[in-house]
Amino acid sequence: MESVQAIKQRFEIIGNDPKLNRAIEKAIQVAPTDISVLVVGESGVGKESVPKIIHSLSHRKHGKYIAVNCGAIPEGTIDSELFGHEKGAFTGATGTREGYFEVASGGTIFLDEVGELPLTTQVRLLRVLENGEFIKVGSSQVQKTDVRIVAATNVNMFDAIEKGKFREDLYYRLSTVDINLPPLRDRKDDIHLLFRKFASDFAHKYKMPPIKLDDNAVQILLKFRWSGNIRQLRNVAEQISVLETNRDISAITLQSYLPSEGSNLPSVIKDKKSDSDFSTEREILYKVLFDMKSDLNDLKKLTLELMKNGAAKVQETNPNLIQKIYGSHNENDIDFEDSRELSVIPSQKATVSNEQFDNQDEDDYLFAETIEEEETLKLEQKEIEMIKKSLEKNKGKRKAAADELGISERTLYRKIKQFDL
Ligand SMILES: Nc1ncnc2c1ncn2[C@@H]1O[C@H](COP(=O)(O)OP(=O)(O)OP(=O)(O)O)[C@@H](O)[C@H]1O
Ligand SMILES: [Mg+2]
Repeated sequence: MESVQAIKQRFEIIGNDPKLNRAIEKAIQVAPTDISVLVVGESGVGKESVPKIIHSLSHRKHGKYIAVNCGAIPEGTIDSELFGHEKGAFTGATGTREGYFEVASGGTIFLDEVGELPLTTQVRLLRVLENGEFIKVGSSQVQKTDVRIVAATNVNMFDAIEKGKFREDLYYRLSTVDINLPPLRDRKDDIHLLFRKFASDFAHKYKMPPIKLDDNAVQILLKFRWSGNIRQLRNVAEQISVLETNRDISAITLQSYLPSEGSNLPSVIKDKKSDSDFSTEREILYKVLFDMKSDLNDLKKLTLELMKNGAAKVQETNPNLIQKIYGSHNENDIDFEDSRELSVIPSQKATVSNEQFDNQDEDDYLFAETIEEEETLKLEQKEIEMIKKSLEKNKGKRKAAADELGISERTLYRKIKQFDL
């Protein structure tokens, strides 16, 4: 049997936490059987590697491995995607189509976000789990399949069962064995390790020296809640790697990249929405606020540079900063006389010494105007803009765009639908 260590290497899983090791060990143990496995854990904890480990260590490894994101498929087409359909089963069904359960026979199906399955689909799935039988949409003929099912969820399934959204019998069939992946905040010893790994990866990717946290920054890193877990940690590492010219990262710098915790923003919308909508919304809001904060920091830096060195010098010495703030604009197009006026600096401030600029209150005063303007920016507009940009950049690949945005594919899918993008 392959060791936990070897598996971690093969699947590029970083961390030495005993709870993580136990989860991997469990995956190795159940792999050779056909037992259904439910992987449970918060968003971004690394659930997706578990079914891959199980498949590759099973006798099905030469068979197909199909990962289905149940939350990303519209309710109207999910049965047809999973179980196939007959010609004429619904408008547009011009031919017979095989579903994933037919195609993956002899292999493994990973049902990600299984809690999102509609109740009618849950009935069909239960039948497959019980005796391998399914019926194509629009057909009356029973077919047989031989698939191993691994499912994953980041929602509390007992809540879903209580609310009548998930069948209890299906839950027990799916979770013959459950594998729990611990949240990052419960893997304290792994947090800095992961951060260093990401810092080194991004240094390589962007051809810059790796960023390095000082001792106080490490303390902040360890205390943070990381509700988006490893995905969020990696995003923060990437943002800092790209944006910070000084590669020694202080606690204050790190803090400026972290969403403030205990923000009362989510509670404003809580009672109007379901829990999953709420966390979706929060994910996006955090990201938007985080990006705004980072934009603000950039503006602060630029203005400071302009005041200290003048426009021509900044353009010459720090074109990257300008590029960052003004996006794809050609830096030569920026009218620096205008931007100096826009920064609304009272004339006596223009001569204050550098020490005073280090003072936070001064900074706040100088940028009060900008902040006000930022606050009036519609969050929704910003969301749409970010999603569009990311989709364009990733050539419409939803998974890549979702990863870049630091949200799950399901969230992105919902947003695309919501905003009709
Ligand atoms: N231990 C780890 N070492 C290195 N990278 C990891 C580790 N765990 C997760 N990651 C990375 O973090 C990201 C998020 O992981 P993954 O997509 O598996 O999360 P998830 O648990 O499926 O979350 P969600 O419920 O939101 O889908 C991935 O890019 C993954 O490669
Ligand atoms: Mg996932």
